[in-house]
Formats: sequence, C-alpha cells, structure tokens
Amino acid sequence: MLTQSRTIPTVFIAFFLACLLNTTISAQGQAANPNSQTSFAPTAGPQYVGSDTCKTCHEDQYKQIEATQHWNTNLANLKKGTGQEWHGCESCHGPGSAHVEGGGDKSKIFSFKGATAQQVSARCQTCHGTTHPDFQRSVHYQADVSCITCHSPHQAKEQVALLKAKTPTLCYGCHTDAIADFNRPFHHRVNEGLVQCQDCHNVHGSLPKAAKISTAQDQICLKCHTEKRGPFVFNHLPVKTEGCTACHVPHGSNNPRLLTRNNVNNLCIECHGLSTFLTLHNQANKYQACTMCHVAIHGSNASDVFFK
Ligand code: HEC
Ligand code: HEC
Ligand code: HEC
Ligand code: HEC
Ligand code: HEC
Ligand code: HEC
Ligand code: HEC
Ligand code: HEC
Ligand code: HEC
Ligand code: HEC
Repeated sequence: MLTQSRTIPTVFIAFFLACLLNTTISAQGQAANPNSQTSFAPTAGPQYVGSDTCKTCHEDQYKQIEATQHWNTNLANLKKGTGQEWHGCESCHGPGSAHVEGGGDKSKIFSFKGATAQQVSARCQTCHGTTHPDFQRSVHYQADVSCITCHSPHQAKEQVALLKAKTPTLCYGCHTDAIADFNRPFHHRVNEGLVQCQDCHNVHGSLPKAAKISTAQDQICLKCHTEKRGPFVFNHLPVKTEGCTACHVPHGSNNPRLLTRNNVNNLCIECHGLSTFLTLHNQANKYQACTMCHVAIHGSNASDVFFK
C-alpha cells in the first residue's frame, strides 16, 4: 500500500517534466521556422496578440474573415470549442507577436504560401480533424492536394463551404476524363445540377482508392435508387457479388440505362453463354430483349427467374 501511494506522485512529476521539455523543444522549432511548427500551444516564443492587432495592418484580410464562419474562431465571438487554438487570425497563422514587433516580418508568421500541402492540411486539421479524420489517408492527400486546393478561407468564390469554385467545375479542373464521361448521351445529370460529384465520392477521403467511392460502392447507389435495395427473396447473384458496376457505367455511357453493353442481350450472354440460352429458350426469343421477360433483373420476390 505504502509503496504504491509513493509511486503515483513520482509518475506525475516525471510526466510533468516530460511535458515541459517538449514545450521547450517546440518553442525553439517555432522561432527558427514558423512553417515547421506543428503545435499551437503558447510557448516562450511568439504570443497571441488578437485579431484586432492584425486588423491595423491587414484590414482587407480582416474583413474577408469577418464575413465567414471562421469569425467564430475569435475568442470574443466564441461559439464552439475552448482550446488554445481558438484565436481568430492566429488560429490559422499562429501566434503573431514576433511578426508584429518585427513590423510585419514575413519570416515570423505562418504563411500558407511557402507551406507544403501536408503542412497546410495539418493546420486546418487541428480543428477539422474530428469531422474529416480520414483525409490524411485519402488519394487526394497523397497526391499533394490540400484543403486550400478546394477551399479558400479568405476569398471563396462560393457560398457553400468556402469553395474556390462550384462542383463539378472545381473537379473538372483536374479530372478532365470526367468531362467526357458526363457528356455521353446517357449520364447522371451532374452538369445539369441534379446529382453532384460528392453525392457519390467522399472528397475528404478515407482509405486510398476510397476517394473513388466511399466504403461499399453500392450503398452509395442505393441511397438514391432505394427500390434496388431489396431484400429480395430471389437475388440476381451479380448484383450482390459484383455490384452495380458489373452492368452499369456510373458516370455516363453511350448505351441507354448506363449499361456497359450496347445491347442488353449481349450483356446477359456475356455471363450466361449463348448455348445455355438456346437450350432453354424458344429460338424466336433470341430476337427479343431478355429483360422483356426477365423484367425484375435486380431481384424479385415472386420469381426465381426474375419475371414480374
Ligand atoms: C505592423 C503591421 C502589421 C501587423 C500588426 C500585422 N502584420 Fe502581417 N504583415 C505585415 C507586413 C508589412 C507584411 C508583409 C507584406 C508583404 O511584404 O507583402 C505582412 C505579411 C503577413 C502575412 C503574409 C506572409 C507572406 O509570406 O506573404 C501574413 C499571413 C500575415 N502578415 C498575418 C498577420 C497576422 C495573423 C497578424 C496578426 C497576428 C498580422 N499579420 C499583423 C504587417 C503587419
Ligand atoms: C481558417 C484559416 C485562416 C484564418 C482564420 C485566417 N487566415 Fe489568413 N490565410 C489563410 C490562408 C489559407 C491563406 C492563403 C491564401 C488563401 O488561400 O486565401 C491566408 C493568407 C493570408 C495573408 C497573405 C495574403 C494573401 O492573401 O495571400 C494575410 C496577410 C492573412 N492571411 C491575414 C489574415 C488575417 C489578418 C486574419 C484574421 C482577420 C486571417 N488571415 C485569418 C488562412 C486563414
Ligand atoms: C481554430 C479552429 C479552425 C481552424 C484552424 C480552421 N477552421 Fe475551418 N471552421 C472552423 C469553425 C468553428 C467553422 C464553423 C463550423 C460550424 O459552425 O459548424 C469552420 C468552418 C469551415 C468550413 C465550412 C464553411 C461553411 O460555410 O460550411 C470550411 C470549408 C473550413 N472551415 C475550412 C477550413 C480550412 C481550409 C482551414 C485551414 C486553412 C480551416 N478551416 C481551419 C474552425 C477552424
Ligand atoms: C478535392 C476538393 C476538396 C478538398 C481537397 C477538401 N475539400 Fe472540403 N469540401 C469539398 C467540397 C466539394 C465540399 C462540399 C460538400 C458538400 O456539398 O456537402 C466540401 C465541404 C467541406 C466542409 C463543410 C461541410 C462538411 O463536409 O463538413 C468543410 C468543413 C471542409 N470541406 C473542410 C475541409 C478540410 C479541413 C480539408 C482538408 C483537410 C478539405 N475540406 C479538403 C472539397 C474539398
Ligand atoms: C488540384 C487538382 C484536383 C482537384 C481540384 C480535384 N482532384 Fe480529385 N484527384 C486529383 C489527383 C492528383 C488524384 C490522384 C489520382 C489521379 O491522378 O487521378 C485525384 C484522385 C481522385 C479520385 C480517386 C481516383 C482513383 O483513381 O482512385 C476521385 C474519385 C477524385 N479525385 C474526385 C474528385 C472530386 C469529386 C473533385 C471535386 C470535388 C476533385 N477530385 C478535385 C486531383 C484533383
Ligand atoms: C452516380 C455516382 C457518381 C457520380 C455522380 C460521380 N462519380 Fe466518379 N465514380 C463513380 C464510381 C462508382 C467510380 C468507380 C468506377 C469503377 O470502379 O469502375 C467512379 C470513378 C471516378 C474516378 C476514378 C477514375 C475512373 O474514371 O474510374 C474519378 C477521378 C471520378 N470518379 C471523378 C468524378 C467526378 C470529378 C465527378 C463529378 C464531375 C464524379 N466522379 C461523379 C461514381 C460517381
Ligand atoms: C444522388 C442520387 C443518385 C445517386 C447516388 C446515384 N444515382 Fe443513379 N440516378 C439518379 C437520378 C436522379 C437518375 C435519373 C437521371 C435522369 O433522369 O437524368 C439516375 C439514373 C440512373 C440510371 C439510369 C436510369 C434510366 O432510366 O436511364 C442508372 C442505371 C443509375 N442511375 C445507376 C446508378 C448507379 C450504378 C449508382 C452508383 C454508382 C447511382 N446510380 C447513384 C440519382 C442517383
Ligand atoms: C446483372 C446486371 C445488372 C446489375 C448488376 C445491375 N443492373 Fe441495373 N439494370 C440492368 C439492366 C439490364 C437494366 C435495364 C432494364 C431494362 O432495360 O428494362 C437496368 C436498369 C437499371 C435502372 C433503370 C431502370 C430501373 O429499373 O429503374 C436503374 C436505376 C438501375 N439499373 C440501377 C442499378 C443499381 C443501383 C444497381 C446496383 C445495386 C444495378 N442497377 C445493378 C442490369 C443490372
Ligand atoms: C456479371 C455476370 C452476369 C450478368 C451480366 C447477368 N447475369 Fe444473370 N446470373 C448471373 C449469375 C452468376 C447467376 C446465378 C447463377 C446460379 O446461381 O447458378 C445468374 C442468375 C440468373 C437467372 C436465374 C436463373 C439461374 O440461372 O439461376 C436469370 C433468369 C438470369 N440470371 C438472367 C439474366 C439476364 C436476363 C441478364 C441480362 C439482363 C443477366 N442475367 C445478366 C450472372 C450474370
Ligand atoms: C419470351 C420470354 C423470354 C425471353 C425473351 C428470354 N427468356 Fe430466359 N427464360 C424464359 C422462360 C420461360 C424461362 C424458364 C423459366 C422457368 O424455368 O420457370 C427462362 C429461363 C432463363 C434462365 C434460367 C435457366 C435455368 O437454369 O433455370 C436464364 C439464365 C435465362 N432465361 C436467360 C435469358 C437470357 C440471357 C435471355 C436473352 C438473351 C432470355 N433469357 C430471354 C423466358 C424468356
């Protein structure tokens, strides 16, 4: 008993010392190069001076931020959060006393201009890390696309989410293949504003490749195409095992119903084989669309061969 109660305070003191040591190290790092600063904790280095001080020299930038939701990051206007990082301008640019004392010394403040994509995103993630926790594992992050590739805190062009441009224009800037996809005769009406890229893609990430389509691909499709969800007594196996893209091109297709083949029968025969078909069907049937009779092609509660 006695030994135990002595050990606990010792552990605490050791921990406290370790924290102190850490702070000292990061303070030195900051003074040398604010862009390598990863912690927002106030230190022996630069101190927070408050947004009103920044305003005296940067009125334009002040007004820009004042008009956005980030104004809530000012302690004076605080609505959410209480951490050290809630300091208006200095939430993103870091403590500014040294910058101010230096008469606006550029090397004494965090500047997004010289920062790498990863440093930029880390800054934003100090607050947004909880809502977009998977961004660091996304294809975009790995391809040096940062938060400010798509968002602009100061000069957003869109009302929605401080975007630099509307989607799909924003996405087309880099994904030129998609422009052609959505110009095909049959397409999800993205250009027409009925469906959006982000309805199907999680732009903020999760696992590599998952920016492609978040978690289970079909769950995304079924959000809108609820009648294909089932459950059905009789499932058409590939709908379950291979998913929607076994038969459909999701962006756009030259074929009606976004099918992968220009003729329904060719699509079916690709998996079922012509000979199986001929042995089971009247010769004349082959000139009819298979889905004339096998109507409930996504699954049925009444027929194991997907009649109505
Ligand atoms: C005494 C005037 C003054 C004050 C106060 C001031 N700045 Fe500056 N700031 C400047 C000047 C001058 C520049 C350099 C402008 C240039 O060379 O383009 C600058 C540049 C900057 C830059 C751009 C750095 C770059 O690489 O281009 C940022 C970011 C910045 N200031 C943020 C702040 C923030 C945040 C505050 C408040 C904590 C603040 N400033 C307070 C004068 C000031
Ligand atoms: C949410 C994060 C964020 C906040 C809050 C913020 N800034 Fe910025 N600031 C940025 C980013 C990102 C840039 C880089 C340019 C851009 O993407 O708009 C920038 C650029 C700047 C620049 C460089 C000039 C330029 O346009 O490139 C100055 C000066 C500046 N900010 C001052 C301020 C001041 C003053 C405040 C407070 C009123 C402030 N910032 C609040 C993120 C922020
Ligand atoms: C100090 C914390 C903090 C930092 C750092 C921060 N944000 Fe925010 N951001 C907020 C808060 C608070 C909101 C308002 C969200 C709300 O009210 O739900 C917000 C909102 C947003 C929104 C949504 C605006 C809207 O209209 O829906 C975007 C986009 C955004 N931030 C991007 C960024 C980017 C990009 C950065 C880095 C350059 C950044 N934020 C850095 C706290 C922060
Ligand atoms: C490839 C472009 C892209 C990148 C990179 C990106 N975003 Fe977004 N972001 C968007 C789009 C598009 C929306 C609008 C989504 C919608 O319509 O619901 C959005 C919405 C948001 C919102 C508001 C709604 C929400 O989902 O919470 C916040 C906050 C936000 N982004 C923060 C960030 C942060 C922080 C980063 C970096 C870690 C980031 N974004 C990176 C494109 C992007
Ligand atoms: C600044 C350029 C840029 C912008 C803007 C951009 N992306 Fe990307 N995106 C990339 C890069 C680079 C990759 C990495 C893979 C590649 O080269 O296609 C990528 C990957 C992707 C992937 C995964 C592709 C795969 O093969 O796994 C999807 C899906 C995607 N982006 C969707 C979007 C959407 C939706 C938007 C608009 C909200 C958007 N992107 C905006 C550059 C961009
Ligand atoms: C109806 C849902 C849906 C919409 C809307 C959508 N996508 Fe996709 N996208 C997908 C699916 C599903 C895949 C994966 C295709 C595959 O695996 O065969 C994909 C793949 C991609 C890829 C990877 C490369 C490729 O072509 O396979 C990129 C990049 C992409 N989409 C970008 C976009 C952009 C940009 C937009 C908006 C202009 C958009 N997507 C709208 C469902 C969608
Ligand atoms: C945001 C809702 C939404 C999502 C998510 C969505 N779709 Fe659609 N889809 C629609 C709408 C709306 C139409 C009707 C298009 C029209 O009338 O222009 C449509 C049309 C279709 C069509 C053609 C129907 C016809 O009659 O020509 C197919 C096939 C299709 N979607 C498959 C998919 C697949 C596969 C996915 C997943 C990769 C998917 N959809 C995701 C909304 C969505
Ligand atoms: C085995 C091939 C196959 C698979 C897998 C498949 N479909 Fe289809 N789908 C078809 C065919 C064939 C048609 C055209 C039916 C017709 O011509 O009447 C079609 C038509 C559609 C249509 C438009 C007509 C209607 O019935 O509403 C939508 C929407 C659709 N599919 C969505 C989906 C979704 C969502 C998935 C994934 C859950 C999916 N499909 C999986 C073959 C398939
Ligand atoms: C991607 C491959 C694939 C495509 C494309 C496909 N099927 Fe199937 N289909 C299957 C598989 C696998 C089964 C399950 C076979 C089994 O259980 O032995 C199946 C089962 C069936 C059955 C139930 C009877 C049986 O053999 O169990 C019918 C009827 C059927 N498909 C018709 C069609 C029609 C009509 C089309 C075209 C619209 C089509 N299929 C497209 C793979 C496919
Ligand atoms: C005129 C209506 C009709 C058309 C068109 C039709 N079928 Fe059938 N199909 C049937 C009938 C009837 C059966 C037998 C149902 C039963 O056994 O109860 C059947 C059975 C099947 C089976 C199940 C065989 C088994 O193992 O039980 C498959 C697979 C199939 N058809 C595929 C196709 C394909 C592929 C096409 C298009 C190339 C097609 N069908 C066109 C009426 C049709």
